[in-house]
Amino acid sequence: MTAPRVVLGVGGGIAAYKAALLLRLFTEGGASVRVVPTESALRFVGEPTWAALSGQPVATGVWSDVHEVPHVRLGREADLVVVAPATADLLGRAAHGLADDLLTNVLLTARCPVLLAPAMHTEMWQHPAVVANTALLRERGVHVLEPDSGRLTGADTGPGRLPEPERIHAAAMALLGGAAAAGASSSSSSSADLAGRHVVVSAGGTREPLDPVRFLGNASSGRQGAALAARALARGARVTYVRAHTEVPDPDGAHVVPVSTALQLRDAVLAAARAGADAVVMAAAVADFRPAAPSETKIKKSDDDDGAPLVELVRNPDVLAGLVAERREGRLAPTTVLVGFAAETGDTTGSVLEHGRLKARRKGADLLVVNEVGGGRAFGATDNTVVIIGADGTERAVGPAPKESIADAVWDAVAMRVPVKNSGDL
Ligand code: CTP
Repeated sequence: MTAPRVVLGVGGGIAAYKAALLLRLFTEGGASVRVVPTESALRFVGEPTWAALSGQPVATGVWSDVHEVPHVRLGREADLVVVAPATADLLGRAAHGLADDLLTNVLLTARCPVLLAPAMHTEMWQHPAVVANTALLRERGVHVLEPDSGRLTGADTGPGRLPEPERIHAAAMALLGGAAAAGASSSSSSSADLAGRHVVVSAGGTREPLDPVRFLGNASSGRQGAALAARALARGARVTYVRAHTEVPDPDGAHVVPVSTALQLRDAVLAAARAGADAVVMAAAVADFRPAAPSETKIKKSDDDDGAPLVELVRNPDVLAGLVAERREGRLAPTTVLVGFAAETGDTTGSVLEHGRLKARRKGADLLVVNEVGGGRAFGATDNTVVIIGADGTERAVGPAPKESIADAVWDAVAMRVPVKNSGDL
């Protein structure tokens, strides 16, 4: 296998020194790395460090080695562009397509995955201008990592720290894995067959408040949803991750929309789907019922009697059914692939699979991923066993297998159903 070609952009922030460690991780892993610092990055770490560690020439502007047209060649030939640290200024210039140095030129000419690792003070990261620039970049398919929280340059702490080099490297390798396999001829689960696609994944369990401190919840860990989002990212997709309550970290590079209740989840999923999605995968465990009138104050027990309050429940909307209806009524593209999950136990009226087949027909989604729950299966576990039932009558059994492999099998089934884009669309 040829060495992957990585362009490592370095922005002008104090965390530039950590990019030297990131560079080591890439070169030790066998990558060929061209470092492209900005002018101000060189004030923090000098050109000799980058040249010595990468074993390659280093340039910041477009005026050196002009005969090689480096501002076009570097971006075009790269398998991955990583920028660490990505300053507020760099995010802004990238979002607005400015190209006043070599790095921003590379960002405009690159057709490979682009990963940005921001680092700045909390006030800057949370400024509406930076929030808007980050959202715009993510919308275009650029992978922007969430910064870490912790000690910043001065005595201040908060979100804005450059993610540790190991975390940036892991996210980069996931993207490279997807991109590398895209060159291979197979339609296997590790190809970048979702490049240029936007997918929406819901994950975790909703919570329906009873009062300000209590809620009706469920046992979903969010692992399967997180695995779906991570694998979609690795296969090149832009991912909107509508996340209720989970026990696992958010996948790096996803656009995370945190929600709590079923109604919030419904609104977030519909908004993301209406904005244009190639697929929506409903892996969240959405509460079917919510308390009709949650108390605004904490419900107290009475000292006078042993009575307990009766809680009246009302139905929540079925989000998946809502998506199916939206598509039927033309508010979603007719080609949007809709995927549901069904947790079944099997009972005297039918087996897990029989219940799954019935539900697949009832829900009207294109794919229903049926898994057996109860007895410690599925919820919280790292492995799962499923049958992926297609509306077209296909059935594929997968597992027992890690939730990442289940996720890949789901994306394989989705990839077969999304219409082919011609290259001009991408
Ligand atoms: N779902 C949804 N909205 C709800 C409930 C569930 O969108 N209010 C979605 C889930 O995300 C999942 C699928 O519907 O993708 C199946 O959920 P499940 O709870 O197994 O099915 P139900 O239709 O609620 O049937 P049951 O009566 O078995 O609970």
